[in-house]
Amino acid sequence: MSSIDIPLQSGRFGSTKRRDRWWTQPIFTFLGLSVFIVYATWAAFQGQYYRFGPYLSPFYSPEIFGNPLHSWLGAWPAWWPSWAPISAALLILWAPGGFRLTCYYYRGAYYKAFWADPPACTVGEPRKSYRGERSFPLILQNIHRYFLYLALIFLVILGLDVWRALWFTAPDSGHVQFGIGVGTLVLAINVVLLACYTFGCHSLRHLIGGRVDEISKSSVRRNSYNCVTCLNARHMLFAWTSLFSVMFADLYVRLCAMGIWHDWRII
Ligand code: FES
Repeated sequence: MSSIDIPLQSGRFGSTKRRDRWWTQPIFTFLGLSVFIVYATWAAFQGQYYRFGPYLSPFYSPEIFGNPLHSWLGAWPAWWPSWAPISAALLILWAPGGFRLTCYYYRGAYYKAFWADPPACTVGEPRKSYRGERSFPLILQNIHRYFLYLALIFLVILGLDVWRALWFTAPDSGHVQFGIGVGTLVLAINVVLLACYTFGCHSLRHLIGGRVDEISKSSVRRNSYNCVTCLNARHMLFAWTSLFSVMFADLYVRLCAMGIWHDWRII
């Protein structure tokens, strides 16, 4: 079969022969991630209004130091440096943040939206050199698998928070009783979306699928692989819905704790 060599020409930044609106996806990605980064940074530095009744904001869970009644290690220790911000979120957010930052889907999205490298397929990019993810610093993206292990632990902790969000203390008698509030549903939906995102992880697919180039012969692992593959096909959908659900869950708890929103008890 004959072939023709067509020399690759790198056009100037933004040049392309594409006629579709290729720029919409990077723009929406840029706006969506920017909103989340700004909100999450602001919320993480607040250090207050993250608990309301049995609800705990997912940005602050697990609460390692904080309220002596609820946090894992009690009140903030006396040795805590006076210059360091006092916020339980800042102790833990590096783990879910690192998980998202190194996610294969987000990498493709923010390389385009923030670095424009390239802004979209077959669109001219601003740099001529390509070092890829095999050299420093992007080789560090390979720690995604270890962030996955942490994300699975966080999922269990957030699931326990949903369980706790089912138990309300009666203000008059002080008795703890079962109930469901809108906040319970907000936290529960958030965990479901986070689970769909985490269990659709590309690295998890590799971990449970089998060996290199070979699907495991175990039926349990094959079925698990099929489930993860099914979620992985919708990874972008769950990446975005879980990103906004975790932000909304924090906002909901925060506004209830500030007395701006009223939590409606369903049961
Ligand atoms: Fe997206 Fe692992 S590839 S979470």
